[in-house]
Order: sequence, then structure tokens, then C-alpha cells
Amino acid sequence: MLCRGGRNPGGDDDMKALVLAGGSGTRLRPITHTSAKQLVPVANKPVLFYGLEAIARAGVTDVGIVVGETAAEIEAAVGDGSAFGLSVTYIPQPAPLGLAHAVLVARDFLGDDDFVMYLGDNFVVGGITGLVEQFRADRPAAQILLTKVSDPRAFGVAELDAGGRVIALEEKPEYPKSDLALVGVYLFTAAVHEAVRNIRPSARGELEITHAIQWLIDHRHDVRSTTISGYWKDTGSVTDMLEVNRSVLESAERAVEGTVDAASEIIGRVRIDPGATVTGSRIVGPAVVGAGTVIRNSYVGPFTSIAGDVHVEDSEIEYSIVLGGSRVIGVRRVEASLIGRNVEVTPAPRNPAAHRLVLGDHSKVQIA
Ligand code: G1P
Repeated sequence: MLCRGGRNPGGDDDMKALVLAGGSGTRLRPITHTSAKQLVPVANKPVLFYGLEAIARAGVTDVGIVVGETAAEIEAAVGDGSAFGLSVTYIPQPAPLGLAHAVLVARDFLGDDDFVMYLGDNFVVGGITGLVEQFRADRPAAQILLTKVSDPRAFGVAELDAGGRVIALEEKPEYPKSDLALVGVYLFTAAVHEAVRNIRPSARGELEITHAIQWLIDHRHDVRSTTISGYWKDTGSVTDMLEVNRSVLESAERAVEGTVDAASEIIGRVRIDPGATVTGSRIVGPAVVGAGTVIRNSYVGPFTSIAGDVHVEDSEIEYSIVLGGSRVIGVRRVEASLIGRNVEVTPAPRNPAAHRLVLGDHSKVQIA
């Protein structure tokens, strides 16, 4: 049984989690114009939920979520955390002044306990259980996660010595010294609190956690790193989102719980949620179809996530993500696309033959 504000019920330690769910998500526009970036769905589930599940699986139940402008939306989605087996405390961050600033405002919640800090827009394939176990055994001042990326300039970047020890970290360097980016999962002992109190704002005006970790290195604290593969963050590229969606769908299980008529064919690992209706259509998995969605006389191909309350009719769609409330009618064929909420995609009337577009700010359209 879990108790509110309680400890890891099966564990013998007081480890906490600090989940960061502030920020405005400019890189994922236009999707994040109207929604928190941590709630962007991957295989029909908000990216933040995968992080919360990974934390619960690692045996950490006492979770502080740092929230900003989008607090109401995050709280509505996560609630008291009991759906995840977690006990959640919300910690308002008055302004987005950086990840180290989030640690400062969470001081009362964290006390002197060890904690895992998890950026709510990050996606780590395979979870964090092994990592948390290793940290619990060794308890270095900081344990960071690294991964190879193609453009390190968009990340914190680590420089390692020949023995793999972290010697220096730089935040979004113009000339990166390696291709090893800091993944948004960090483990700390209480040593980090002195570090976050002793750093100055960066050029972008934020207290960087990267600088706090550098402070720990400079003051001879033990900082260790683990390199992983299978990582995604909101770099704003649709290509990335489609890829992470693909990798999550790879492990989707077949579960046809909606209504499917005899004229339809459902092939392979397809999840059709209760309340979805499929008629005269062919769906080839892996794919997911959310509750309340209607698919009629259409083809839905592999690696497609169609959220709830979507209407797809006389269309073909593959390797794409469609968010809630959208309508795709009479379009052949949609591929490698990210379609936001309440969007309408239909053919134009025959005369005059012209494209008719109503697009929000930061939209992108490629016309065949
Ligand atoms: C932050 C950190 C950066 C890290 C990244 C991972 O960047 O400052 O070092 O690599 O998260 O998501 P931000 O999202 O604030 O640009």
C-alpha cells in the first residue's frame, strides 16, 4: 500500500524524484502553442507519463513535479499521482529560470534526501531502474546520463578523459568538444544544493544544472556518467517525434477492444481502444487507435498513432501521428506527418484547382 507523502514502501531509503514540467516548448510549435510540451503524446500517451512510470518502476514513489505556466494542464493530467502508484507534490516555479533554479525552489520538498531529477520532456527507452539501483549502491554526488547525438550544440555536452571520467561540461556550446549530450535524467545526493546556490545565471539568463554539476567537479566531488542509447527529447523535429513514436509502437501489443465490422481487416499488433469504430478499413500494425475515433473506408499503415475522437474517412495514412479531435477525410495519401489537435485535412473542391490552406503560426505543409 502507498501512503501520501510516504516513502518507497518496499525500499529502505528516502530517495525522491523531482520531475520538471515547466517551460514553454517553443521547439515543438505549433503543437505546443496550445498544450504543454510534456503532454505531447507518443503512441497516444503523454511523454511525461512514460517518465512517471519509469520512476515508479525504479521504486521511487515520492515525486515533486515542478510546474510553471502550464501548471493547470499538468495537474489535470497527473492528479495526485495515484494512477501511477506515486504520491505527487506540485512545486510552482514562479518563472522559468533554469533547471538548477528548479532544484532551489524544490529545496523544502527534497530536504537532504537523494533524488533523481527527470526532465518531463525527455524519453529514455528502457527506463531508469538499473541506473537508480546503481546510484543507490554507489551514491556519488552526481550521476549523469550521456548519449551520442548528431547535433550536440542543442544540449549540455560532456568531455570525458581517456578513462571515461567526466572532466568538463558545457551548456549548448558553439564548438562542442564531444558528441556526448547530457540526457535529462540526473541523480544527486544533497551535495547538489550547495552547488546550485553557488552558480550564476548563464548567457540565456538561467541557472544551468550543467554549471552546478561542473561546480561539483571543480570542488572534487564524485561525478560519474553512464552512456545510453535510445533517447529522445523535444528537439522540435517531426522526424524525431515520428521515430520515437515508431520505437514505442515496436512493442505495442494487439488489443482490439473497439468495434470492428466484418468488412475490416486488422493485421498484426494493433491496439484499438474501447469506443473506437472501424468500418470497411484495413489497419496494419503496429498502430494505435484511441477511444471515440472513427475509421471508415480507409487504410491505416504501420507506425501510426491516431488519438481519440479522430475521424478518418476515405483516406490512407501511414507512419504518422494524429492528435485528438482531428478529421482526415478523402486524402490519399498521408505519410510521415504530425497532425495536431482539431485539425481538418480534406480535398479542395475541383474548381478552381487550388490548394486552400488555413494554417496556424509555425505550421509546416508539404504538398505533393
Ligand atoms: C536542458 C539542459 C541540457 C540537456 C537537456 C536535455 O536543456 O540544459 O544540458 O542536455 O535539457 O533535455 P533545455 O531543455 O533547457 O534546453
